[in-house]
Amino acid sequence: MSIKRSLLGVPLRLSTLALMLFLVLGAQSFAANPDVSDSEEAISAGKSVFNANCKTCHKLDQKYTGPALRGVTDRRSIEWAKSFIKNSAALIASGDAQANALYSEYNNLAMPQHEFLSDTELDNLLSYIEYGDKEAAVAEGAGDGEVAQAAGGSGVPSEYLTIILAVLVVVLLLILIVLGLIISVLTKYLNNQKLEEDDSEFINQKFDVKKVLRSDAFVVIVTALVIALVAKTAIDGLYTIGVQQGYQPKQPIAFSHQLHAGQYEIECQYCHTGVEIGKSANIPSANICMNCHQHIQNVGGKEGISTEIQKIYDAVDNNQPIEWVRIHNLPDLAYFNHSQHVAVGGIECQTCHGPIEEMEVVYQHSSLTMGWCIDCHRQTDIKAAGNEYYDKLVQLHSDSKNALKVKDIGGLECAKCHY
Ligand code: HEC
Ligand code: HEC
Ligand code: HEC
Ligand code: HEC
Ligand code: HEC
Ligand code: HEC
Repeated sequence: MSIKRSLLGVPLRLSTLALMLFLVLGAQSFAANPDVSDSEEAISAGKSVFNANCKTCHKLDQKYTGPALRGVTDRRSIEWAKSFIKNSAALIASGDAQANALYSEYNNLAMPQHEFLSDTELDNLLSYIEYGDKEAAVAEGAGDGEVAQAAGGSGVPSEYLTIILAVLVVVLLLILIVLGLIISVLTKYLNNQKLEEDDSEFINQKFDVKKVLRSDAFVVIVTALVIALVAKTAIDGLYTIGVQQGYQPKQPIAFSHQLHAGQYEIECQYCHTGVEIGKSANIPSANICMNCHQHIQNVGGKEGISTEIQKIYDAVDNNQPIEWVRIHNLPDLAYFNHSQHVAVGGIECQTCHGPIEEMEVVYQHSSLTMGWCIDCHRQTDIKAAGNEYYDKLVQLHSDSKNALKVKDIGGLECAKCHY
């Protein structure tokens, strides 16, 4: 028997391996299927497309900026859903009745187009929409509102981790294949030599191990890997809930809002001087702290200056700003203005920031996702009374019974919040 012949046999036996690889690499290689596939691979591939493009506006089981998506392939044809996702504006312009009804139901909020999505990606998306995250949905349903909204936070880093993990799995499989090839060639070659009985037994025993590897055990291992991958994606998804919402970094000075804003009832505006007049609330400089702390060094019977207060003195003496760690931070693409909300809108700090006056250390109370902004703009009435800025608008709206909401003054227009 020649080595060449034995090599010819190898690819055949490796076909199982190749199949596994296909499965792990996932849905890329799936043929377009008119029915929605419920394979785990398609679902998890669909999930990453969803997280990258749709998560800001959609949830599977809950109305968000856009409709809840699960069941969309029952209410609509698959072709309709795909062309709506690709370019909803075109479908609406074509006069499609369903699309137009939906568009006006959502206050003419245009969904961005996704022409760049391939047909396979669209199939995977639909798989995820129909079958993905069933358990997560139950968990989200339990805690209402805010917990659910937090899932809209960005998940970019976890997506990178998943990609790295997938690449590792593929590399491992490739190594296994190469090892299998080498073993197979060597055994065939050695079996053709005149060998002592011991040796030949040894080789054939090894052959058995390989056989096991190729069969059930191997399937189990690969299945376990796939399950681990899926589980990791799911856990990462849950993690995004805590990443930004609840963010509570350690600050350079143990400054307590509970003490200053709560117990001593110092006005927020005394320190956050910008809230009524500008975009930014401002973090107070050390000089503002000194207004009080140069006088109250020894209050409460304490001896000398505490180490925390000493840090304020050092900052002032060295003319170095205190390096507070920023907690709330919108991405650059979004525009948020404090005076618009606090001075004009009359919204309490606590509505967005939570019970700051009870916080020893400040944490991020709200999710700060786009869905969070939009939800409030849908629901909140404009405080128009005594504000002549709105007199005209109120008059225009006085025919309709509905109160004037933020959305009615353009609070859902993309350009109001995006540069
Ligand atoms: C900027 C927000 C936004 C993004 C991002 C977005 N959508 Fe939408 N989507 C909407 C809105 C709003 C509607 C309601 C229809 C309308 O107003 O055009 C909608 C409607 C839909 C519908 C129709 C639902 C039904 O009940 O018939 C589907 C399907 C859909 N979106 C899928 C997606 C998918 C998939 C993605 C990601 C590739 C995506 N959307 C990204 C806002 C968005
Ligand atoms: C005596 C000054 C002072 C007062 C009064 C005060 N703050 Fe602050 N605030 C600070 C300082 C200093 C920081 C930065 C350190 C920190 O995060 O604790 C801060 C941080 C914050 C942050 C987080 C900022 C970020 O990094 O995202 C919020 C929100 C906030 N304050 C809201 C309030 C509200 C609401 C009130 C009134 C109930 C208030 N503050 C009263 C001094 C003050
Ligand atoms: C309007 C007055 C006022 C301002 C402004 C003020 N504080 Fe205070 N602060 C107090 C009072 C009153 C106490 C309580 C003192 C005590 O009980 O010993 C206090 C206590 C503290 C304590 C704990 C006491 C200790 O000795 O460790 C720290 C830390 C502190 N302040 C930091 C700051 C920082 C930082 C700023 C500026 C961002 C600031 N404070 C601004 C009034 C003020
Ligand atoms: C409508 C919601 C809302 C209200 C009301 C609100 N904030 Fe904010 N606040 C935000 C958002 C969103 C950010 C993040 C802004 C950014 O990153 O550009 C923020 C950031 C901050 C910061 C960090 C520094 C900065 O300016 O970015 C401070 C301090 C702060 N707010 C204090 C206050 C105080 C004090 C009040 C009440 C007088 C208040 N906020 C009312 C939403 C709100
Ligand atoms: C708690 C409710 C609430 C939240 C949360 C909220 N807003 Fe608003 N927003 C309002 C109100 C009320 C007004 C109207 C103020 C007025 O009378 O002009 C407003 C107005 C605006 C406007 C001006 C709209 C216009 O047409 O003049 C912009 C822009 C805006 N908000 C951006 C944001 C952004 C960005 C976020 C999220 C980071 C956000 N808002 C979160 C309540 C909210
Ligand atoms: C009320 C304010 C508001 C309005 C109106 C609004 N957005 Fe946003 N949008 C935001 C905020 C805030 C974020 C950042 C949220 C986050 O980081 O999770 C955001 C994020 C996004 C993102 C995600 C960007 C990224 O890097 O992930 C897209 C895309 C987007 N908006 C598109 C739109 C489109 C299209 C419209 C019009 C239909 C729109 N937005 C209307 C506030 C708004």
